[in-house]
Amino acid sequence: VPSVTYRLPDGSERRVEVAVGSSVMRGAVEHNIPGIEAECGGCCVCATCHVYVDPAFFALLPPPEEGEREMLALTASPPHATSRLSCQIAMTAALDGLVVEIPERQS
Ligand code: FES
Repeated sequence: VPSVTYRLPDGSERRVEVAVGSSVMRGAVEHNIPGIEAECGGCCVCATCHVYVDPAFFALLPPPEEGEREMLALTASPPHATSRLSCQIAMTAALDGLVVEIPERQS
């Protein structure tokens, strides 16, 4: 099972297993990792699952679709160059070891 490391705003890290086919959002919610609110449950309409993807992994992700790009303009913490909505990052074996940073605020 591939793993994902979540870097929290206080500098601590949580590394958990996230099954292939699940999402980076779901992995956080299922492991009670704070800071991913995911109010819409993964429908790409709330932007409260915002993460900053570690630059080493950013190019491995398929580019965001239009709906995600629109929502990335509405995040509570300012978007960075590697911002994504974690509900739209589908876990794959190739993403094993993925590192994402959780922003200060989601709403
Ligand atoms: S959970 Fe709502 S946009 Fe990702």
